Amino acid sequence: MRTNSSSCPRPAAFAEMTDGIRESATLAQNLVGRSALFREAMELVQLYAAWQAPVLITGETGTGKELVARAVHYQSRRRHRPFIPVNCATLPDSLVESELFGHTRGAFTDASQAREGLVRLAEGGTLFLDEMEALSPRGQGALLRFLQDSRYRALGGNQLHHADVRVVAASNIDLHERVAAHAFRDDLLYRLDAFRVNLPPLRERLDDLELLVAHLLAKAAHQTDGLARCIDDAGVALLRAYDWPGNVRQLENVLLKAHVVCPGAVVGVAELQRCAPELFQAGASAHASLTHSHSLREAKRAAVDQAERRFVEDCLSRTAGNISAAARLAGMERASLSRLAKKYGLNVRALSSV
Ligand SMILES: Nc1ncnc2c1ncn2[C@@H]1O[C@H](COP(=O)(O)OP(=O)(O)OP(=O)(O)O)[C@@H](O)[C@H]1O
Ligand SMILES: [Mg+2]
Repeated sequence: MRTNSSSCPRPAAFAEMTDGIRESATLAQNLVGRSALFREAMELVQLYAAWQAPVLITGETGTGKELVARAVHYQSRRRHRPFIPVNCATLPDSLVESELFGHTRGAFTDASQAREGLVRLAEGGTLFLDEMEALSPRGQGALLRFLQDSRYRALGGNQLHHADVRVVAASNIDLHERVAAHAFRDDLLYRLDAFRVNLPPLRERLDDLELLVAHLLAKAAHQTDGLARCIDDAGVALLRAYDWPGNVRQLENVLLKAHVVCPGAVVGVAELQRCAPELFQAGASAHASLTHSHSLREAKRAAVDQAERRFVEDCLSRTAGNISAAARLAGMERASLSRLAKKYGLNVRALSSV
């Protein structure tokens, strides 16, 4: 029955879709999409890649900000030089200058050796400052000074260095609102916001859904058993009806789980029910978060938090609380997963005994 009602592309049509993916994927970054909003963003990426000024990438969690930052780098003349990602949330405030600009031997008590900073590592390439909203006031001051003339001194050193580094920053929070709340420097924001790429949430680019599903199922196959799977019409309708607070990352996780639990070649509603119960509670959870929140922004944040928490918990319990294995399963950095586990108060030790 399921096979008859399935609209899974036959091999020829699938080949067409994957050709589409290749066409719309930007170089090796695998950015997939063909909706008007997505194309607009990609046109800006191409345009901005050629210049030196900073780029600020904004968008909800999971919309592809890091992928786009890489696209800016790999489409620029800097592509053969390093792309250095830094998570501003993990830069310790007391060490922020030394992390960014390095330090000389003896610059502070623990500095038994001189060390190069991230700016030096990114020489000739791109420094990607992720979670920019989390940069401490001290870090904001240091970055502003650097952006003014691209010059810096290592901590404890006298020599002034000139850096040939492009800064690309990302934030999933509106930095203008952070400025209004006196939590972010306006002079730094205006420097960073030279070129802006805003990535639309998945629910506003549902035209891309089927292309993304085909791409992400192919990716799931590649990461696991190599067996191609597709999804039937009812499954696609279900995915379309959901509002995806965690955006493409959440879709990717759902499809990876669906791939793993699916006994045959066609993912249907039954598999989605097993691995993504949130799809069946979309109306209820959206309603609940809206009624308990003061604004749409808060409601969205609550929904994202809910999805993130459930996902991290699931990865940790499937790997018996092993953070490194859970991070691999989630396709995240270990430090990011650990930070999320801490953020949501997940008891890793308790999960390891499940
Ligand atoms: N357009 C796209 N095509 C294919 N894959 C995508 C696309 N956008 C995002 N992804 C995938 O979704 C996942 C999340 O993307 P990414 O890490 O770039 O999001 P993000 O905006 O940086 O999220 P966060 O704010 O939570 O850090 C990645 O696995 C990425 O490969
Ligand atoms: Mg990111």
